[in-house]
Amino acid sequence: MKSIHDLQLDGRRVLLRADFNVPMDDRGGITDDIRIRTVLPTIEHVISQRGKLIICSHMGRPGGKPAAEFSLAPIAGHLQALLGRPVKLAPDCIGPAVREMVDAMAPGDIVLLENLRFHKAETANDPGFSAELASLADVYINDAFAVSHRAHASVVGVAERVSEKAAGFLLQAEIDYYHKAMDTPVRPLVALVGGAKVSSKLAALEHMLKTVDRMIIGGAMANTFLKSQGIDVGASKIEEDLLETAARFLEEAKEKNVKVFLPVDFVAADAFAADATVKNVTIQDMPPGWMALDIGPATVTLFREALQDARTIVWNGPMGAFEIDAFAHGTMALCHAVAGAHALSITGGGDSNAAVKKAGEERNISYMSTGGGAFLELMEGKSLPGIDALS
Ligand code: 3PG
Repeated sequence: MKSIHDLQLDGRRVLLRADFNVPMDDRGGITDDIRIRTVLPTIEHVISQRGKLIICSHMGRPGGKPAAEFSLAPIAGHLQALLGRPVKLAPDCIGPAVREMVDAMAPGDIVLLENLRFHKAETANDPGFSAELASLADVYINDAFAVSHRAHASVVGVAERVSEKAAGFLLQAEIDYYHKAMDTPVRPLVALVGGAKVSSKLAALEHMLKTVDRMIIGGAMANTFLKSQGIDVGASKIEEDLLETAARFLEEAKEKNVKVFLPVDFVAADAFAADATVKNVTIQDMPPGWMALDIGPATVTLFREALQDARTIVWNGPMGAFEIDAFAHGTMALCHAVAGAHALSITGGGDSNAAVKKAGEERNISYMSTGGGAFLELMEGKSLPGIDALS
């Protein structure tokens, strides 16, 4: 895979695939711009090399037709403010009007194409659509790690049609950090996994079992593991159909000598609500009808100790329903523990990154991945089609 430094950019049309699929509030304001800011080094490099920069991205899942709430107009405005130079928004991502805009570009100009997913052909990786997008470019750069697990037209189809192509700085950093952590880790390597469902993380857990020294499991998914060991978790969320799988997983971990840490106590509540009645209970004492919504203080101590001498930490998924303050303590405490460890620490997924932000620890995490699904697929040991297409 080529680096961006290998490309000749001067005066050439550079199609940059970014992932500007950022969270927005009801009034169309961007609530977290990390996916925009992290592409700035690539954008600035192309401009400094006098490239004609054509940026494309998706936003949300508009279902293959234009919809105002999924327009990239707010992104164009934000990007323009961050860069301090004009960013023109094209009315579409293909078609005669777009071609005209691109033909009129001078070196250093920036055009942002409108949402790729306004066309069904994008997610279908349609050859005609890919060819039309590719025809806008002399050079293709993928800096959209977060969508590189999707074999979509702008991610794969275009890469296959443009011979001069490379990974942008963000994509390269994502790959480098992840491989440093999982392929050549300084040990102990500890995985910290949380979130709602075992089913969405099972493949990642199984793959990581081959590599990690310890695994810490929290969040609602821990309930299924505890229940598989005969613990009564009350009305907590569990996945009944995965009880056997969870028990087998714990056996397999034992055989592989991977120590798995599960909660020993909970912050339990009588309802999933900010005004619920809340108390700390051990895993043996869950009141009937109550549910676990965070890890308890003894678990925080246990998990913290399991992280203390870690030299590499990979974290995906919160320890509890941290969006409600009453259930945020466990996730916040673990954020501080990960941030304070003398380790290479990598977090991925929207929830974990939001938790790190809430804890004010962004500067103390070695690397916060911009990927959600893409990060998880790396954790599953899969290769990503968008990265493969660059080779
Ligand atoms: C993401 O937010 O994970 C990426 O932008 C991919 O979005 P998608 O899941 O809609 O393909």
